[in-house]
Amino acid sequence: MLATDLTGQVALVTGASRGLGAAIALALGQRGAKVAVNYFGSVDKAQAVCDQINQAGGQAQPFQADVFTPEGVDILIDEVTAAFGDIDILVLNATGPQPFIKIEDITWDDYLQQFTYFVRSPMMLTQAVIGPMKHKHAGRIIHIGSEVFEMAVPEFSNYVSAKGAQLGLCRSWSRELAPWQITVNLVAPGWIPTERHADDPADAKEFYAQRVPMGHMGEPRDIGETVAFLASDAARFITGQKISVNGGNSVE
Ligand SMILES: NC(=O)c1ccc[n+]([C@@H]2O[C@H](COP(=O)([O-])OP(=O)(O)OC[C@H]3O[C@@H](n4cnc5c(N)ncnc54)[C@H](OP(=O)(O)O)[C@@H]3O)[C@@H](O)[C@H]2O)c1
Repeated sequence: MLATDLTGQVALVTGASRGLGAAIALALGQRGAKVAVNYFGSVDKAQAVCDQINQAGGQAQPFQADVFTPEGVDILIDEVTAAFGDIDILVLNATGPQPFIKIEDITWDDYLQQFTYFVRSPMMLTQAVIGPMKHKHAGRIIHIGSEVFEMAVPEFSNYVSAKGAQLGLCRSWSRELAPWQITVNLVAPGWIPTERHADDPADAKEFYAQRVPMGHMGEPRDIGETVAFLASDAARFITGQKISVNGGNSVE
């Protein structure tokens, strides 16, 4: 068996109905993991992701839940565990809207909203899965962060600060959980257009792509493949790391 094989592992990917989460679910499913495809509103899309995995011989099931609330997290973990067993691989990917806001206009609630997505929700989900992981002396917690922290994107301090805090969580948890052989890493994508970027101006995408050292934007599968590697035994000695997947955009 290859070290990147995930047969027998149970993976939960939050926000996996579309965008990067869908590509992550597909990459994990292709390697044999049982994949819990969490979604909030896009039931058809979540089902389509599962169909694609199942038709290729994998095993996946959609799970509706609001991962930004304690009730949603409790229900989700109970349902996934009942269907598949204890979670071995937790991918913290879900996001709500990410508005650009100038300093003059921003409110504390604007920050709290982003911290709910990227600190509170990861905290609640990790607390819910960590017991069995510690018991097994194994586990993978993979955050989907962002390059925006390194790039210091202006008029975006709500999102940038929450993504910075998420990196802090990842680093602290990695040392805390290392004695149990549980790894905690963060994948930091560059701008990778998903459906929600469909209406963004083409010249903005072109402007961004021209500045990427590799000369183009990434694709969702670039994130899926990196997450699948970190989830596997091949990455068993990697923890507390930020892996930038952005064509060299944040190289200093
Ligand atoms: N795409 C990029 O350029 C980029 C760059 C850097 C970092 N990232 C990060 O990558 C992650 C994914 O981003 P994306 O661009 O793929 O986002 P996206 O395409 O907007 O997808 C968001 C996903 O989150 C789900 N979601 C929304 N509210 C939820 C809730 N309350 N509970 C559970 N799921 C919920 C959505 O589900 P429904 O559709 O079912 O509602 C959807 O599956 C985020 O952490 C983002 O910050 C993205």
